[in-house]
Amino acid sequence: MTHPIPTPPTVPLLGHATLIDHDFPMGANALWAREYGEIFRMCFPGRTVYVVSSYELVHEASNDKLFRKSVGGPLAELRSSVGDGLVTANVPGEENWGIAHRVLMPCFSTISLRNMFDDMVDVVSQLVLKWERFGPHYRIDPAEDFTALTFEAISLCSMSYRMNPFYNSAMHPFAAAVVDFQVECMARSRRGKLLNALIRSAKTKFEQDRDLLMQYADEILEDRKAHPIEKKDVLWTMINRADPVTGKKMTDLSVKQNLLTLLMAGHETTSGMLTFAMYHLLKNPEAMRKLREEVDTIIGDRAMTADDLSRLPYLVAVMRETLRLSPSAPARIVQAMEATTLGGGKYAIAKDDTLLIATYVSQRDPAIWGPDVRVPPVLLPSQLSILVFQAEEFRPERMLDGKFEALPPDAWQPFGAGIRSCIGRPFAWQEVQIVLVSLMQRFTFAFADGHYDLRMKQTLTMKPHDFYIHAIPRTDRA
Ligand code: HEM
Repeated sequence: MTHPIPTPPTVPLLGHATLIDHDFPMGANALWAREYGEIFRMCFPGRTVYVVSSYELVHEASNDKLFRKSVGGPLAELRSSVGDGLVTANVPGEENWGIAHRVLMPCFSTISLRNMFDDMVDVVSQLVLKWERFGPHYRIDPAEDFTALTFEAISLCSMSYRMNPFYNSAMHPFAAAVVDFQVECMARSRRGKLLNALIRSAKTKFEQDRDLLMQYADEILEDRKAHPIEKKDVLWTMINRADPVTGKKMTDLSVKQNLLTLLMAGHETTSGMLTFAMYHLLKNPEAMRKLREEVDTIIGDRAMTADDLSRLPYLVAVMRETLRLSPSAPARIVQAMEATTLGGGKYAIAKDDTLLIATYVSQRDPAIWGPDVRVPPVLLPSQLSILVFQAEEFRPERMLDGKFEALPPDAWQPFGAGIRSCIGRPFAWQEVQIVLVSLMQRFTFAFADGHYDLRMKQTLTMKPHDFYIHAIPRTDRA
């Protein structure tokens, strides 16, 4: 016997569309998951989504043989620009995904990443210089500066193109178009077809950005063909390497769409991770102290090298714990390939049903992350918000000494799962390591307003909102 799947109350015709805080839709999912449990149904005009949020159900829904990635909602909007590029391809079904995947995989191998190390250090050093020059009283918007940094890093490493964000007051028009286009993709997916057609100014801007992106990609590809360079960067690989399985090369259109895909997928996610890392470290001074101590002991004030990357266990634990509590891509969407059940037969799922895998919630599942609740000695109804799951605590130590490796499969999956998991994970990992080490070496940090209560802003990814810091150059070292 299967169980009925609950649904929060709806608004006639609109379902749950108007009941969600558009600044942080994942917040509504988290609240409803507490109230309605590990699976509940959400309805929007024309579509229904099952939100799964316990470890057990997320693990089952991560099975590539039963579920495949669904390219709906904001991804469908993104697809209008990047077509069957890696993020937005329908698999199985679109051959270009397999070709691009196999051509691009070697770009993210250990050796390739070592070759990108110096470029990443170069970009990070520009951010460090900026913060040093601004001085200890400057109000830094880390989300903005990290976005500039990650965009520059992916641009330089993938196509050897510098946008020089730290030397210009205005954003490069290409970078601005990428950012605006992604934000509008999310907005359009919420509004629905009718409103999208009616709001003409937004529609025109969306189409202009989409055209501008393709125009830039065209120019970059044509320029590279006309003026080949020595360096074997990602663009070189896409133009020259043949797929080892089919022997086919990527078409020009696929090269351009995947170039744009990498720029889009490769910056917001990583800048979100960096911003959350900064937030968690400031909220947890003991973790910040331990991280600084590790960096001081292992590297000191010399320039870091690629060999240092594997010698910083506490840093890795901080990064894993940041992405557990604050996965910058907080959910992904899959579709059932056949009728099946979840929860060991408890919940019936029909063929083509859509599931939202709420990693943001499942990575706090007390069954995995922390069984207990801290209850004050006397609990009044008004004190309910004092309940703190241990799973909610930022504790890098839970990722140390083999504990991470001992986790059950899919308990930690901020980079997705299975064949459609993140191809850029090693790139992001190395980049974040370089940034955090460099910042620990040069600065101490403080909340710009003395304190900060986390507020979220979610577009395609999520980040702390209205979050400002001071970076104070260290004076305790020569
Ligand atoms: C896919 C997260 C950085 C490129 C994904 C997915 C997640 C993710 C969750 C799966 C999405 C889904 O199933 O719908 C992250 C996070 C990052 C990060 C948290 C940083 C902290 C990067 C970077 C790049 C990148 C730096 C590029 C260099 C991609 C691509 C895919 C992808 C191309 C699609 C893979 C495929 O379907 O074949 N990422 N990502 N990501 N990511 Fe990342």
